[in-house]
Amino acid sequence: MRLSVIGCGYLGAVHAAAMASIGHEVVGIDVDPAKIEALSKGEAPFFEPGLQEILIEGISSGRLSFTTDVSAAAGAAVHFIGVGTPQEAGGYAADLTYVNAAIDALLPHLSDGDVVAGKSTVPVGTAAELAPRVTAAGATLVWNPEFLREGWAVQDTIDPDRLVAGVPAGAEGERATEILREVYHPAVAKGTPFIVTDYATAELVKVSANAFLATKISFINAMAEIAEVTGADVTQLADAIGHDARIGRRFLGAGIGFGGGCLPKDIRAFAARAEELGRGESVSFLREVDAINLRRRDRAVQLVIDALGGSVVDKNVTVLGAAFKPFSDDVRDSPALDVAVRLYGLGAKVVVTDPQAIENARRVHPQLDYITDRDEAIRDADAIVLVTEWDEYRRELAPELASALTSGRVVVDGRNGLDAAAWRAAGWSYYGMGRP
Ligand code: UGA
Repeated sequence: MRLSVIGCGYLGAVHAAAMASIGHEVVGIDVDPAKIEALSKGEAPFFEPGLQEILIEGISSGRLSFTTDVSAAAGAAVHFIGVGTPQEAGGYAADLTYVNAAIDALLPHLSDGDVVAGKSTVPVGTAAELAPRVTAAGATLVWNPEFLREGWAVQDTIDPDRLVAGVPAGAEGERATEILREVYHPAVAKGTPFIVTDYATAELVKVSANAFLATKISFINAMAEIAEVTGADVTQLADAIGHDARIGRRFLGAGIGFGGGCLPKDIRAFAARAEELGRGESVSFLREVDAINLRRRDRAVQLVIDALGGSVVDKNVTVLGAAFKPFSDDVRDSPALDVAVRLYGLGAKVVVTDPQAIENARRVHPQLDYITDRDEAIRDADAIVLVTEWDEYRRELAPELASALTSGRVVVDGRNGLDAAAWRAAGWSYYGMGRP
């Protein structure tokens, strides 16, 4: 099928390349010429495992192209909207400027029977508001939320755990559903659940999924706070409750909390939308989820201060990680980078290392020192602070090696990823999150 993808950020670029890799003819469209130039050369504008390969494969097969010219969308049967919906400046709600601009730009190029598939995360009610404009152009609007995780984006797009389509009622919706099934043919053929709903449900599925994940993380971090005043160990607690299949162990990783371009802004936008709908109280707990999450950064900083005898002024502190999570170079709302910046603000001599995110981190926080080589970064550190659980730090950094690089013996584990016993046995003072 011929497809267009409007917006070539994390979501759109991966979607375009993934759709080409399953056999479609795809044009990716973005207003940013630099992004389009890179993508056209088969270069991923961000670090995402497997993306580079399918970009190159798609471009050399002739099935995948990129352009800044929105008229290239003409002739495609399905047009995906994958632009960003950031937190609005000065508020918590989602900023829909880019979604509106994408629809406006696309309208003149639509033909009768085209499907416009919104993938961006939007406040509930957005699709119903946009639909009349799309219908007037002879096309059908569907909302087809995306659940990909950074770091696993290619796999999540080609082989998702479910597909959701919010469609209009009646024959128009049925036809659009059939077209979407054809788009996602490999997943549909293997029996991936394909849930057809109305617009509002599809929009809510997305935001409620992210709200649930954020709540699960803040729940375990709240337990970490209680563990900290009782001497309990939150990692054992998570293991124990996680064995209950109704609870499950995933997303019960206590630490410095969630960040990134999705969870933080999505829970805020959801709370703001609920207020607008007169149902603020229904999700008022999301404010608490946010507050718990942000407190964990304070906690990590306080652990470093306490471990270094009450002050970090002029202390050499090595921060392992800048990305908001491993397998990503994304530093948007990164708790890792925030911890580094706070320590710097308190007077520490901070060195930050990360296998992928240094360039992005330096762009937003040029005041910090960055060293790519992990061992160089650790040399002479008074304290090591693990904030992104890359394998390089979590699995592959032996305490004996760290001991050879520095005489400092303080390690603060902001992700509870290290083997506490091994570090203690090697003579280090180990501090975890919610652990004795
Ligand atoms: C999240 C959702 O997981 C995706 O399903 C969704 O499609 C995406 O947002 C989106 O809306 O686009 P992502 O932002 O890539 O995906 O990251 P997650 O894997 O959800 O991790 C979010 C944050 O939570 C990270 O900072 C991670 O370190 C933290 N986290 C995760 C914890 O602190 N503890 C855990 O146990 C798990």
